[in-house]
Amino acid sequence: MANDVSYDTLIPNNVDLSSDRRLRRALETWQPKFLNWWRESGPTDFQQAEVYLRTAVGVERGAWAKFGFVRMPEYRWGVLLAPQEEGRTIPFGEHKGEPAWQEIPGEYRALIQRLIVIQGDTEPASVEQQRFLGHTAPSLYDMRNVFQVNVEEGRHLWAMAYLLHKYFGRDGREEADMLLERTSGDADRPRILGAFNEATPDWLSFFLFTSFTDRDGKMQLESLAQSGFDPLSRTCRFMLTEEGHHMFVGKSGVERIIDRTSVVMHEHGITDPGDVGRLHELRVIDLPLLQRKMNFHFSVTLDLFGSEISTNAANLFNAGIKGRFHETDIDDDHQLRDDTYPVLTFKDGRFVTEAMSAITAINARLLDDYIVDCQKVVAAWNKVIKSHGIDFELVLPHRAFNRRQGMFADMYVSPGGAVLNEATWLAEHDSFLGSSEDSTYVLSLMKPVDQVGEYADWISPPKSGVGGKPGEFEYVRIPS
Ligand SMILES: [Fe+2]
Ligand SMILES: [Fe+2]
Repeated sequence: MANDVSYDTLIPNNVDLSSDRRLRRALETWQPKFLNWWRESGPTDFQQAEVYLRTAVGVERGAWAKFGFVRMPEYRWGVLLAPQEEGRTIPFGEHKGEPAWQEIPGEYRALIQRLIVIQGDTEPASVEQQRFLGHTAPSLYDMRNVFQVNVEEGRHLWAMAYLLHKYFGRDGREEADMLLERTSGDADRPRILGAFNEATPDWLSFFLFTSFTDRDGKMQLESLAQSGFDPLSRTCRFMLTEEGHHMFVGKSGVERIIDRTSVVMHEHGITDPGDVGRLHELRVIDLPLLQRKMNFHFSVTLDLFGSEISTNAANLFNAGIKGRFHETDIDDDHQLRDDTYPVLTFKDGRFVTEAMSAITAINARLLDDYIVDCQKVVAAWNKVIKSHGIDFELVLPHRAFNRRQGMFADMYVSPGGAVLNEATWLAEHDSFLGSSEDSTYVLSLMKPVDQVGEYADWISPPKSGVGGKPGEFEYVRIPS
């Protein structure tokens, strides 16, 4: 069966690598470079630990992964595409209704290559950003989770490298090498997108990154899963299967932080969430600090969507390469020739919603869909706060807040949406985005907990374990 994954080859795959000698050799040449990158830029010092990881062993719903102890460098990174849909047609744009492309259409080669490179660049970037977290994991359960996210981002890199090698010849091979050469935060050769050059120095950052930035990943993958270029669509559909866990790690991580803070507040009769003196003495993360860090992660992630009004996005849509979120569920002609879309802009001193050409507003729409998704996450966090009877509410900042890209990039806007001058912005900067004291405090909490079933003081245990195991399980066996 075409969907079966072959594990007897050097590179596990369900794309029949064994019958394509040229491609197989190209990927087998790239593999040691990938492993070098993993050793140099992947998780530090835990390469010999045995980690209870899931590995993708199929692409069918429900039964695609198996759990077991693996040393990370021995993880079976493979090339896995979702099953091909018989008779699939291009769902949008000027080629709508034509058979989906199985080969790269020459006229769109450069456009598609660029998209794959940008997506591919984010995958190793996040591994690099997270490489030190193993040292400060609040439990073995959490340590296992960050490593799971890391190996799967590595697999996502494989997914993009496969497309580059298979469909873009020499250019593709060079781009695949470059994916291993840029480094997150590097002054000379940084990663392509801003948020992927920010540090992830602590576990609060990690949970917020996986809540918000991996969720951007989901939105991008969802749009690419609509692509008329079928191999890209199938690749992204399978990546989405893995992505769910990354967002779960983030969302549930923040929930556990909130829960712990709330429990400690109760135990000590603290009713003011801003009673930082006592809360920090008790070594938990106060909710206003969480809000400030959330402001940061949310706003830098919005920049990943690019300009709200974008001819590039319009071209990609028209060409049938990158669609909208849940494109096939949208009730319109999927071509948007005369349609408009309401876009928030700033005009004559205030924010107004204006009807704009829908096709140039593709990014604005994806941003809207993303924000709706984020609101659900924040609502779940607020539910935890409320369940403890604490008077505090987390709020997503205004979309014009702290932007570097798009139509609000030159403005100074508060989290609540007030337009400020530069001086006020600078004066309020730390109260909006967190101060160096905030970061120092959070870092001071980051003491590793590596005893089975134990958790750091600033976070509650999870409701249940992972991969069929309880919370109290040796998820990582660290060699002494
Ligand atoms: Fe990914
Ligand atoms: Fe991810």
